[in-house]
Amino acid sequence: MKIKEIKTAKLNAQSFIAEQVASIRAAVGRGTAINALSGGVDSSVVTLLGHRALGRRLRTLFIQNGIMREGEAEAIVALFKKLGVRVEVVDARREFFAALRGITDPEEKREAVTQTFYKKVFGREVRRSGAQFLLQGTILTDVDETVAGIKRQHNVFEQLGIDPKAAFGYHILEPVVQLRKDGVRKVGKALGLPATIWNRPPFPGPALAARVIGAVTPKKIELVRKATALVEPVLLRTGAFQCMAILHEDRVTGMKNGRRLFGRQIELRCWDSIDARKATPTAVPFATLRKLADRITAELPEVVSVTYHIASKPPSTMEAV
Ligand code: XMP
Repeated sequence: MKIKEIKTAKLNAQSFIAEQVASIRAAVGRGTAINALSGGVDSSVVTLLGHRALGRRLRTLFIQNGIMREGEAEAIVALFKKLGVRVEVVDARREFFAALRGITDPEEKREAVTQTFYKKVFGREVRRSGAQFLLQGTILTDVDETVAGIKRQHNVFEQLGIDPKAAFGYHILEPVVQLRKDGVRKVGKALGLPATIWNRPPFPGPALAARVIGAVTPKKIELVRKATALVEPVLLRTGAFQCMAILHEDRVTGMKNGRRLFGRQIELRCWDSIDARKATPTAVPFATLRKLADRITAELPEVVSVTYHIASKPPSTMEAV
């Protein structure tokens, strides 16, 4: 089925909200729904639309997959509490790490995260809850990129000819599927989300697993998580579209505490982009990069090398995996 795009310039956020709230209510009827909130703009908007439509008949879960950024679960739960939405945290760290163990191929990694999320963890929660409907924050770009085979986005099934009811046991509602990212941001602002959410830089579904080259382990995730926490506040100040720290698989020799150390390498990426389809590296002042490198190597004992990525997308992609 062809999805009709709503162009952001023509989008009337308030009428869109009213229409989607009505349509969620009509679809769910007297039933119940469930959704997973990651804290990104898409799932946050869908959570608020769902709660306006269904109130407590929508259960919202935050799946703690162990590959999110520092303090993410706590921050999101607290923020939504302020907005009157109760978010339940499901601790699934062990399952995600078990599924990722030993996988080095990028697409297999994405698939492991997808399958663990839908079939195991979230699928189980949905079945337990008895909800008949799943609300999901798929946007039009996710559909385009998946259909074009550019990327296996984690949240597109029907467009791939997979029936979620048959495969996973529930109906999927996608209230923002006619919008692009800037449209979702406009709706988020109109819904009263704080700017820290509606203006949030994108973050990939496979989370920090997309930023570890080679096999993912809790230790490597911890390293890339700490690097991310150092990098994001500094590089986002440049006004960049997105920035990240990537942990390389190869090691290089360095010197720490007067001894040679075959240590880890962190690559920084910072992107200027409008819609993530094309991107160029941000011209970050050299002094800023130097200071970051000093902090990363000082605070992360294993790291001896920090590099900055200067190729454009395409042919590069924004994430490393
Ligand atoms: P790439 O790496 O393809 O990324 O240039 C483009 C934008 O999409 C994000 N991204 C993803 N988002 N699931 C997502 O929800 C994914 O599998 C995924 N892969 C990449 C990426 O962070 C960037 O903003």
